[in-house]
Amino acid sequence: MKITKTFGLIIGTGIILYASSCSKKEVTYSTNGETIFRTGKNIDGTILQDMSASIYNSKVHGCADCHGENGKGKYRGGDEKETFSITYNDLTNSNIYSPVYNDSLIERFIDSETKSNGTHANTGVVFKMSKTEKVALIEFLKTL
Ligand code: HEC
Repeated sequence: MKITKTFGLIIGTGIILYASSCSKKEVTYSTNGETIFRTGKNIDGTILQDMSASIYNSKVHGCADCHGENGKGKYRGGDEKETFSITYNDLTNSNIYSPVYNDSLIERFIDSETKSNGTHANTGVVFKMSKTEKVALIEFLKTL
């Protein structure tokens, strides 16, 4: 009797452990743009951060890591200043950016870290994206 009970307990625990391991799936997003924004990888899982050219290369960064989940900017601790908002609304707002960004200036920034005013930004991360990936990311910034 006692043995059956112990056995049952082991099997039961096993089933619970198995079930919980199955539910630990990686979070996925429905669009390529959102996936890039939140993970720094495209929807196929390809890493778009150029790790060898980036200073912050201990992990793959999405834009959200530094600009916040809503893109509105984020304080990252220590002496760091809060990052700016990169929602499309704000990038194209003349009260915030001068000159304002447009789609091709955002693409230029992703390629070369050149701001709309022509100066070079020091973000510590470099991205390598195809035209399609940049367009998808910009489309997502429009939804924020
Ligand atoms: C590791 C942190 C980090 C990540 C990741 C990051 N940024 Fe930034 N970003 C910054 C910092 C810091 C600045 C300000 C740099 C400066 O002014 O020298 C910045 C500036 C910018 C600017 C320029 C704003 C201006 O002042 O004109 C844009 C646009 C921008 N980021 C877009 C993005 C996009 C799009 C992504 C994702 C592909 C991204 N960033 C990922 C940290 C980051």
